[in-house]
Amino acid sequence: MTPVRIAPSILAADLLRLGEQIEAVERGAADRIHLDVMDGLFVPNISFGLPIAHAVRRVTQLPVEAHLMIVQPERYVEAFAEAGCDTIIVHQEVSPHLDRILRHIRKLGCRAGVAINPGTPLNTLDEVLQLLDLALVMTVNPGFGGQHFIETTLRKIARLRPMLDEANPACEIEVDGGIDLHTIAAAYDAGARVFVAGTAVFGHPDGPEAGIAGLVRAAG
Ligand code: DX5
Ligand code: ZN
Repeated sequence: MTPVRIAPSILAADLLRLGEQIEAVERGAADRIHLDVMDGLFVPNISFGLPIAHAVRRVTQLPVEAHLMIVQPERYVEAFAEAGCDTIIVHQEVSPHLDRILRHIRKLGCRAGVAINPGTPLNTLDEVLQLLDLALVMTVNPGFGGQHFIETTLRKIARLRPMLDEANPACEIEVDGGIDLHTIAAAYDAGARVFVAGTAVFGHPDGPEAGIAGLVRAAG
């Protein structure tokens, strides 16, 4: 079985104890830290930005990925690279110059990722598959944690893997939103290998480590 990589989303963490929460997911063998950057324009919510990215970078050796749910992401990729993010993920829906921005992210020495909303067709990625290190299939409509997994996204994940196997086998498939003990196995079977989880990790009654361990077990 290919390893199950868990990317805890700190949107669900107790931000007043962020250092401790990150130590807990490190102990739980998290694969990376997922930062949900929301601007209140692309999505109907405002979360956090560069100061949190810098703070997280200071306290962990884990890879850090910035999920930019912002309009005009091209204006901020350099700043998130400077903040120490290893992967920068932009949304296809707000990137008319997707080829250029993905090349720029790689030129900055970061891994380049693109995210697509549940309603966005897969073929919008056809021309940039080779430029991707990570393809993020949103399994909820972005903007909030704690939402229900959208089942129809499973078909999209299952179609994406063979597309990538042909054009760019090294590219990871990540899923984000509503990943929990009941949904992770189906997403794994569809072809995802990286699983963003907020509520299922930081909301677990026995703590983040137990949350991660439970997800890895449930993946099958
Ligand atoms: C939603 C974010 C997700 C979210 C995941 O727009 O991109 O990363 O925080 O939270 P859960 O796992 O609670 O659905
Ligand atoms: Zn996210």
